[in-house]
Formats: sequence, C-alpha cells, structure tokens
Amino acid sequence: MSVTGIYFSATGNSRYALEVFLKELDPSAEAFPIEDKNAPEQIKLHDEIVFAYPVQYSAVPKIVRDFIQKTANLWNGKKVFVIATMAAFSGDGSGVLARLLKKHGAVITGGLHLQMPDSIADEKVFKRPLEKNTANVEKSVRKAQKAARDIKNGRYKKQGLGVMPRFLGYISQRLWFGHRTMKYYSKGLKIDPEKCVGCGKCARLCPTGNISVQGKTVSSAKKCTVCYRCVNNCPMKAITLLGSEITEQTTIEKYISASGEKL
Ligand SMILES: Cc1cc2nc3c(=O)[nH]c(=O)nc-3n(C[C@H](O)[C@H](O)[C@H](O)COP(=O)(O)O)c2cc1C
Ligand code: SF4
Ligand code: SF4
Repeated sequence: MSVTGIYFSATGNSRYALEVFLKELDPSAEAFPIEDKNAPEQIKLHDEIVFAYPVQYSAVPKIVRDFIQKTANLWNGKKVFVIATMAAFSGDGSGVLARLLKKHGAVITGGLHLQMPDSIADEKVFKRPLEKNTANVEKSVRKAQKAARDIKNGRYKKQGLGVMPRFLGYISQRLWFGHRTMKYYSKGLKIDPEKCVGCGKCARLCPTGNISVQGKTVSSAKKCTVCYRCVNNCPMKAITLLGSEITEQTTIEKYISASGEKL
C-alpha cells in the first residue's frame, strides 16, 4: 500500500485531522496542501489517497473544485478516502467530494466526518466556548484514529456516502447556499482601515492571491474562495467577510495546545 494525504485547510482543522489520521494509518505517509505545486505529483505517485477538506454549506469550496478539475487526469483508478471537517453538520460532506472525484475515475473507499471549531469568525451560529471546542477536537482525534485503525483491519467507514446523507446535505444546505461555492467571490471582504496596520499577513496567507497590501492600503481582487484564513489570522481583527464583526478568531493550534495533543 502506498498512501499520501492531500488537503485544503484554512484554519488548520482539516490539515490536523488528516495528520492525525495518517499517523495512525501509515506514519510514513505525508500530507500535501493543494496549494503545494508538488501535490499533483503525489497523486501520481500513490495508489491510495486520503483527501481532507472543510465543507462549505455541505458543498466543496471553489478552490478545491478547481484543484480537482486541474488534476482531472490523475484520479483514474486511485483509491480515495475522504475526510470532511465541519463545525456542526454537513449531511454528505464526504459524499459531495467523493462524487466529484468519481467522475474522474477515482474509487471511493470510504468517508469520515469530523466536528471541529467553526472557521466563520464573524458569525455567532456555531460558536462554542474554548473547552467545548477543545473537547470536540479531542473527540474527533479519537474518531479519526479509530477510523484509521479500522482501515488497517480492512473496514472502511462510509460516513456521508449514502443516499440519505445526500438528501440531507442537499435539503439542509446546498439547495439554499450551495451556489456560493460555485464561483469565486468578487466582493464581501471588508478591511477596517482604522484597525489595519498594513502588516501584509493576510496577503501572504491567502491561498488564491486575492489580497494585495500596499502600505496601509489593503485591496482584494475577484478571487475569494471564502475560506476565512485571512479573517482568522489578522492580528488586528481588521477583516470581516460574511458578517460585520469578529466574534472569535480560530486556528487549530489554540485547541491542540489546550488539549496537549501534538503531532
Ligand atoms: C463559508 C463557510 C461555510 C461553512 N459551512 C459549513 C456547514 O455547512 N456546516 C458546518 O458544519 N460547518 C461549516 N463551515 C465550518 C467549517 O467547515 C469548519 O470550521 C471546518 O472545520 C474548517 O476547516 P479548515 O480549518 O480546515 O478550513 C463553514 C465554513 C465556511 C468558511
Ligand atoms: S493582516 Fe490585518 S492588519 Fe495585516 S495587512 Fe491584513 S488586514 Fe491589515
Ligand atoms: S481573501 Fe481571505 S477568505 Fe478569501 S480566499 Fe483569501 S484568505 Fe480566503
């Protein structure tokens, strides 16, 4: 068996989940972000791929969709296990990515859903206290480890892959909001000039190159995948996107150090 990990992750949830999973499944396996130019080569080189990503409205973020399109000719015959991370619920988070991959010939071996902290930093909907988020991360770590151990015994978890999860993902989320993931956002990113100090961190971190900073002027182009990486990482809490005020910034490190779980 030759395994590799591929992921997209804005605040580290999906990356961490994948690393925990791979450590249990095959400690020699490495994980590559889709932004890494070596990611397509890794798909070529391995028979089995674990693909982790964060759901957006029970749908696949545009940047992940584009990556799959770009690598369309590499998936035929690859065995893919999908990990979908989410703040609360997605119905068919793993299924929706699995179906995209299947179109290009991938063989889906299983799926796993993991509840993690909410990356939407400027909305209150799924916000939880630090202890609750930390407990959720610990629970997801155990769930990921068990799913990986099961694979070693020939049992593949199939969470989010059936007909009922698909119906639930569609009716609860995709039908209403799924269109938001079909294209890049051209507006919505709001930078508070009173708070921004022009440090450039947002521009350095943005996976699509959507942000540019000149002096203290921050501007965004038309290529936002609404991942929330910049919003969660701005040291001055100067960026908002769907909401208008930062409720809580999250990055996975906050919860890992609290739980003591380190890789
Ligand atoms: C635009 C957007 C939409 C989201 N939609 C959902 C959702 O439908 N259900 C859910 O449980 N979490 C949702 N989330 C939360 C993320 O999926 C979750 O926090 C994820 O673990 C973030 O992982 P990452 O750090 O790897 O990006 C959404 C996040 C964003 C930014
Ligand atoms: S990270 Fe925040 S403070 Fe730094 S340039 Fe971007 S918006 Fe301004
Ligand atoms: S502008 Fe922010 S939310 Fe949009 S893609 Fe870049 S980092 Fe993600």
